[in-house]
Amino acid sequence: MTQVKKRDSWGSRLGIIMAVAGSAVGLGNFLRFPAKAVANGGGAFMIPYFVSLFLLGIPLMWIEWTLGRYGGGFEHGTAPGIFHSVWQKNRFIKYFGVIGIFGPLVIFIYYTYIESWTLAYSFFALLGKYSKLNSQLAMQSFLSGFQGLEKNQYFHGLGPAYLFFLLTFTLNIWVIYYGIKAGIEKLCKWAMPLLFIFGLILMFRVITLAAPDLTKPAWNITNGFGFFWNPDFSALKSAKVWLEAAGQIFFTLSVGIGVILTYASYLSKGDDVVLSGLTAASTNEVAEVILGGSIIIPAAFVFFGPQEIQAIAKSGVFNLGFVTMPLVLNKLPLSALLGFFWFFLLFLAGITSSVSLAQPAVAFLEDEFDISRKKAVLIFGAVSFILCHAAVLFLKNGVVDELDFWGGTFFLVLFATIETILFAWVFGMEQAWDEIHKGADMRVPVVYKFIIKYITPLFLFFILGMWFWQEWLPIILMKNVTQANYIYILSTRLGLLAIFFILALLVKIAWRRKKRQWEQIS
Ligand code: PFF
Repeated sequence: MTQVKKRDSWGSRLGIIMAVAGSAVGLGNFLRFPAKAVANGGGAFMIPYFVSLFLLGIPLMWIEWTLGRYGGGFEHGTAPGIFHSVWQKNRFIKYFGVIGIFGPLVIFIYYTYIESWTLAYSFFALLGKYSKLNSQLAMQSFLSGFQGLEKNQYFHGLGPAYLFFLLTFTLNIWVIYYGIKAGIEKLCKWAMPLLFIFGLILMFRVITLAAPDLTKPAWNITNGFGFFWNPDFSALKSAKVWLEAAGQIFFTLSVGIGVILTYASYLSKGDDVVLSGLTAASTNEVAEVILGGSIIIPAAFVFFGPQEIQAIAKSGVFNLGFVTMPLVLNKLPLSALLGFFWFFLLFLAGITSSVSLAQPAVAFLEDEFDISRKKAVLIFGAVSFILCHAAVLFLKNGVVDELDFWGGTFFLVLFATIETILFAWVFGMEQAWDEIHKGADMRVPVVYKFIIKYITPLFLFFILGMWFWQEWLPIILMKNVTQANYIYILSTRLGLLAIFFILALLVKIAWRRKKRQWEQIS
């Protein structure tokens, strides 16, 4: 007789909301969002951003919560099983579900490494390691030295970064080792409020900044906010701005990748998903638009002025967080403490997201191979530890950007499209509508029946189409890759392909195993 194992579950409703919000609120809110907004027209970015939130983000949040809870009822916590439960007649749909394990794993590989920098910088801030640096150049070389991109007076090699990576990685594994309730939920329940406290302190510090240079009165905080919010409507004509806005919505809400499916699979049948999903999404938006939008950019404007900030904003996500922000904070009283708040805020945001990226692979092993959680976590730990070295060792060769493109951009849109079609067209909108509302504490506005059925999939097809039209060939042919990086990018792609096939093979084996078990029982 096969033993029926009881799946883990959330301890409380607040617990899962905090966990989903924890997954959503991440480095993307505080680093990626401000950088994307400034690079894509400032205030004009917010129009496609909010359109994408209402037409893609929120519908997908509901779709994933609902499908996840539905699949959990069949003891499936990841997309292959969940998709198969929805479309039992189709033998291939489970392989599309592989993306729901693959995508999070790919993001996990580089996300954990970047998260470890924030932990390292939290210590550096407290210890005053960068407190004397007061130019972009010096702070930049501190960062490059730390990342192992160059040897300089600050760092002689990758040693310190590797140490913090080990620490961060171990912390992640430790949390998921304890499982859903005793690990992830517990972490998120204290980390999320703390994160908001740090964010609010930093935001109020930035809002109350006085113009530091009396000869340049225009460099003030009001103009700093103006720089971020004043719309440049010409940006709306660019397809790229729309793609970037939609991409940011996916990334920031953690939708279109599989993690929310997995989290929601630990709900019970009668648990509400409508209000809980909306609450988690709203929490993320507050953290992104209010906190994320009010810290780095306005502060940097006050100290560097309208000209330099353009260059700063375009110099990339890492420079904003690890060069500009510490420089700004260095100029303020209590800079060590403020620096610590900033980097530890990022660390909390990071770890509550990275554990969610690990969970689908762990759940897959547990649910589909009947492996105990502890064993599944150890297998995941060993495999992902090796994979993370691609990001740690080859950052300078563009490997992190490559992983971010596939895991953090392309597959999100593809997977979201598959999920939406399955939900609205295969499951069928009438049944889907009933399923969403099981145990619901509020009704979804009825216009969403139309939006989920027609607008969301059309919007997704449009984005995919535009992407193929504008960028497919140069990306596939690696037109933008330098000669020196060619071999690294090619290896990354081949590696990703191999991981995908191995996961697909595991799905095949798992289904064959289950079939045999069924045959023995009956
Ligand atoms: N939402 C996270 C952030 O904004 O940083 C990143 C993320 C976590 C993306 C989990 C996708 C995911 F599945």
